[in-house]
Parts: sequence; C-alpha cells; structure tokens
Amino acid sequence: MTQLVTTKDTLRTARAAMTGSVAVVMTMGALHEGHLALVARARELADRVILTDFVNPLQFGDPKDLETYPRDVPADVAMVEGIVDLVFAPSVEEMYPVLPPAVGVSSGRLGTLFEGASRPGHFDGVVTVVTKLLSLTRPDVAVFGRKDAQQLAIIQALVRDLELPVRIDPVEIAREETGLARSSRNVRLSEQGRRDALALSRAIRDVEQAAPSTTGVIAALERARDAGSAGVAWDYALAVDPVTFEEIATGYRGQALVMLAAVVDGVRLLDAAVVEATRP
Ligand code: PAF
Repeated sequence: MTQLVTTKDTLRTARAAMTGSVAVVMTMGALHEGHLALVARARELADRVILTDFVNPLQFGDPKDLETYPRDVPADVAMVEGIVDLVFAPSVEEMYPVLPPAVGVSSGRLGTLFEGASRPGHFDGVVTVVTKLLSLTRPDVAVFGRKDAQQLAIIQALVRDLELPVRIDPVEIAREETGLARSSRNVRLSEQGRRDALALSRAIRDVEQAAPSTTGVIAALERARDAGSAGVAWDYALAVDPVTFEEIATGYRGQALVMLAAVVDGVRLLDAAVVEATRP
C-alpha cells in the first residue's frame, strides 16, 4: 500500500519508521512512463521508495508556465500505487511558509549557463527544493533522469560540494515509440507539435551516428539548428565537456554531453545524450 503524505511532520514520522535503505524519486507530478522508469530503478536500489510530487514555484520564472504546469496528484498516486511506499505531495504553503524563503541554495556558475541563461534563477530554485526534499526524506540514494542533463550535473555538484550524505543515481532517458523524450510537458503538445518535437530526437540520433567524430558531432548539431522548421524554435543545440561545461570545439577529444532545448507549440522541450567525441 502506498501512503500519501502532505505535511512535513507526517513525512518525518513516516520516514523515521522506515527500516532498511531508502531511495527517493523527486518529481513535479504529472507522472508518466519516464517517472516509472525512475521508480523501477529506485526499487532496484533500495528497500523503500519515497516519491515526492511537488510543483516547485521557485524554479519557474514564467508565471504562465507555472500556472499551466499539469497537476493531478490523485492520478499520480494511482499510477504508483503499490510500487512506491510513500508519496509526499505537500502544498506550496507547507513547503514554503514564507515565499520566497529568506535563505536559498545557489547553483553557482553552472546554474547561469545554457538552461540557466534562458531561465534565470531556475537552477537556484531547483537546488533549494532538492536540498529541502533531501533533508526531509533522508534517502540513501536519489535517482534523477539524464534528460535534464544540466540539472543532473548541478545536483551532483550540490551533493559533492555540500557533502550531502546521499548517492545520486542517473537514469537513462525514457522515450516514446516515436523517439520523443518523455516529459510531463508533452501533454501540452498538439498533434502537429508532437510531430515538430521529433526534431529533437532526430538531432540526437544524427549526433549519435556522427560520433565518435568530434567534427561530425559539431556538424550534426549545426545541421539541427539550421534545419529550421516553422514549428521549432531552437534555444540551444550544443555539446559540452561534461566536467567543465565548456562548449566543445573541433580539437576536443573525450566524452561530450549533448544538450538540446527548443520551444515547440509554446512548450519548452529538452533532450540530451552522452557521446564519445574521440576522433577528428
Ligand atoms: O526534474 C524535476 O522534475 C524537478 O526539477 C525536481 C528535481 C523534482 C525539482 O523540483
């Protein structure tokens, strides 16, 4: 049986009563197969699984995006019934009695690049809520998807730099049959938008085919950006050194983190991949 908890006090009590190892899966709800893949991984890693379901206002710059973000806690609970031990779905007032909170966590320089440049303050909001949720759930391991590649890197840095006692376990991107990366935002896409959105997974495939040639990877990304489809407004399509987050140039040799962001049908979509770029 899955327990639904909406207050921090009840969560603390329930967590204290849990025996064995604990994994946490943090979500903003509107659960889909991608989240279930995270839950399945969490089940493999720990005796107990907590899923958090909270649309975090701190990480939204655009009030319309926050307002229209899909929310359906009862459907989320039904989807994970029996496969997670506890769902924590607090209200905004419960999580943030004072909003914005007097103190938050900084995502540092990494938080200002790429996704952070387009959404100022976004990653500070993410690391603040992730820190609060880690503190409340006290997990041994937390699983995060690789689609939000920059978020994953920032959370890994948060845990490393603040010595947080948790292991981060990255999980591969779950895709629809068409190749579209699964996202809660996909429900906002029209039929045409779903077709246009395939530009992202197509670009990932092209880049993967071009690897391990560094020039091939860079050229595939250029082609994606230039392909110009009326329905796809690219924000960025680039490959970076996964450690420094510097954009790679033709002389680069090593692993490259490919990150894509585009607005399709008014919906911001991300995709990502790690490829070898070890040859000219
Ligand atoms: O990836 C998400 O859904 C959110 O950014 C997270 C990690 C749950 C924090 O609100």
